[in-house]
Amino acid sequence: LFVGVNALVAITYLHLKRIIYITGTDTGAGKTVLTTLLARFLTGKKIRVAALKPLCSGGRADAKQIHAALRGALTLDEINPWHYRAAIAPVLAARLEKKSVTLAQVLTHIRARQKEFALTLVEGAGGLLSPIGRDFDSRALILALRAAPIVVAQNKLGVVNHLLLTLEALPKNYRAKVKIVLMTPAKPDSATRTNAQLLGEYFPPERILTLPWFGKKFTLLAALKKAGVRRTLQKLILG
Ligand SMILES: Nc1ncnc2c1ncn2[C@@H]1O[C@H](COP(=O)(O)OP(=O)(O)OP(=O)(O)O)[C@@H](O)[C@H]1O
Ligand SMILES: [Mg+2]
Repeated sequence: LFVGVNALVAITYLHLKRIIYITGTDTGAGKTVLTTLLARFLTGKKIRVAALKPLCSGGRADAKQIHAALRGALTLDEINPWHYRAAIAPVLAARLEKKSVTLAQVLTHIRARQKEFALTLVEGAGGLLSPIGRDFDSRALILALRAAPIVVAQNKLGVVNHLLLTLEALPKNYRAKVKIVLMTPAKPDSATRTNAQLLGEYFPPERILTLPWFGKKFTLLAALKKAGVRRTLQKLILG
């Protein structure tokens, strides 16, 4: 199904103030790659899009990538208000610095930014149940924000189990709208070619999307030149 640019713009505006929450089966799954691709794709279409990485640990690399993808729509501190040095779960990294952040604080920040944008992308930290703050994880954020979740996973052996576990942890009404992105790894393995089909036996195939390996050093612009990539991103944004 091909959806034209105008239809994309119209539908994005119909779903005004939507929030898409990008989580994963694991750290390093490809969440930032997807978030920055979506951000640049939509800014390129003049859609008012925000992208946030509320909590970063182990430096602010993700937030800096998002900042670049948004081309000045938000400041680095708006994208990422909470950041900690240690490269461990944010809740522990914060503890080391005698800091903590609550669910209410993060919600307040996201909702304030969201007001100014048609669509807000939020990148979680780690996976769905990774502890983020004192009293919450990504699942709690998704539910409180009524966000549409996207689960990103490396397309390799074992991912079907990881994905089914992640879906199991979502309430039914969220499972009914969640989308899955299988990221092709640099070195595909024996399962890379068959995972999508196997997963399709348990989950609606139209909500299982794949993205290619873009190379070791790729630019968003080069990735967005591929028509298949743009089609996948449109499917992720719509409905
Ligand atoms: N499709 C892809 N093509 C090329 N490189 C990729 C692709 N997917 C992921 N990578 C690379 O793999 C690494 C991990 O991806 P990414 O940073 O997006 O993961 P993440 O889920 O955001 O991790 P974190 O939990 O640290 O936020 C990065 O170096 C990224 O550039
Ligand atoms: Mg990331």
